[in-house]
Amino acid sequence: MTPSDVKATLSFSDGSPTMDLPIYKGSIGPDVIDIRKLYAQTGKFTYDPGFLSTASCNSTITYIDGDKGELLYRGYPIEQLAENCDYLETCYLLLKGELPNATQKTDFTKLVTNHTMVNEQMQFFLRGFRRDAHPMAIMTGLVGALSAFYHDSTDIHNAEHRDISAIRLIAKMPTLVAMAYKYTIGQPYIYPKNDLTYAGNFMRMMFATPCEDYQPNDVLVRAMDRIFILHADHEQNASTSTVRLCGSSGTNPFAAIAAGVACLWGPAHGGANEAALNMLEDVRKMGGVEKIGEFIKQVKDKNSNVKLMGFGHRVYKNYDPRAKLMRETCHEVLDALGLHDDPIFKLAMALEKIALEDEYFVSRKLYPNVDFYSGIVQRAIGIPVSLFTAIFALARTVGWIAQLNEMIGDPEYKIGRPRQLFNGATARDVMPIARR
Ligand code: SDX
Repeated sequence: MTPSDVKATLSFSDGSPTMDLPIYKGSIGPDVIDIRKLYAQTGKFTYDPGFLSTASCNSTITYIDGDKGELLYRGYPIEQLAENCDYLETCYLLLKGELPNATQKTDFTKLVTNHTMVNEQMQFFLRGFRRDAHPMAIMTGLVGALSAFYHDSTDIHNAEHRDISAIRLIAKMPTLVAMAYKYTIGQPYIYPKNDLTYAGNFMRMMFATPCEDYQPNDVLVRAMDRIFILHADHEQNASTSTVRLCGSSGTNPFAAIAAGVACLWGPAHGGANEAALNMLEDVRKMGGVEKIGEFIKQVKDKNSNVKLMGFGHRVYKNYDPRAKLMRETCHEVLDALGLHDDPIFKLAMALEKIALEDEYFVSRKLYPNVDFYSGIVQRAIGIPVSLFTAIFALARTVGWIAQLNEMIGDPEYKIGRPRQLFNGATARDVMPIARR
């Protein structure tokens, strides 16, 4: 952190002593005011529910400029990564800070590939679930359960343990998501195949059956790989902050990632792609494009509690760059499948057009986010809606791990323990029950 020559001075109207607060600059983005000594010196906390103005950490991994609609992974624009790299190169970049050369890429790919199988005992956890269990309920359980199989490498303060856990989690998430899917449709699990690419292997574990050969469709595999890249990391979002806070207690990496899976499930976060597609289906049932006006009216009515799912973002106050790339992928996949007249996609584009012109959304800077189009692509590929967020979790696992490892590697890190503004009952005595 680079100290700024500007200081912040805190003064109080009651004549309490003023306090100078240091300001630090990053390489890009907003400066930060260091309030670490505030409570010790003033006896006061800051108050920032939802952390709208709070930087929780000093990171070098992902940078977002919400006004410009810019997203960089280790300095590389997401557009260039989506165009020129695959997901495993992006994983290498997020974990190690640099893109791999050809040899490094080959070695990393081999390492991940050789960890794609899960312990045979894992399948018995699934049997406990109902067949109609939500895949995110299954994934929350399976990811946490992984820690029971690797007692030799759960010390988060041991760099080798962190490295092998990272590889195991990245490698096994596709296998677990595919198992969660196969379980819900009553089909046998398909084992990973080491001669396939990461995304190709996932597609085969999802859609192959023991009864016939499965040939992955290159356009769909590339689209899946791009979905993974676009969802790989995103600064200090809710689930990443959850992973950091959970990991700060020193718990093992699998437990911390399981906490991230649980948080991502929420419809305001990773569950939005499932919610966005369900919303489009609902509008279609209402009557499609002709009924969009009626639906938008509901969204504007605060009492309706209806939101335009897949729109809006805490940081992006411009078009989410991932949504633009996802929309391109939509076109490619729908064309490849001869679905360019897909009514849901047409409805999505009509809804987007209206939202980008309507004062209500424009004034609130509500642009499409990554979740708006990702559901349409996944539905076209044949992924069931209920699995969308599990795939988001699969892709985001590398980001969670990179952020967790960065925190653990930071000599300044402590266990996260926020305070509160208390407005509850002050001290009072318990009365005997006969007198309550
Ligand atoms: C992800 O943080 C990340 O980086 C997350 C993510 C990642 O990669 O990790 O990018 C992934 O979670 C993307 C977001 C997916 N969520 C959705 O698409 C759900 C719909 N979006 C909203 O729930 C909302 O936009 C949030 C939660 C995403 C952001 O909410 P904020 O920043 O807290 O904004 P807000 O709720 O204060 O909204 C500001 C105004 C409000 O209206 P007013 O009170 O000012 O009148 O905009 C309105 C809100 O009611 N608003 C919406 C809306 N989102 C906000 N109105 C209608 N539809 C919406 N989608």
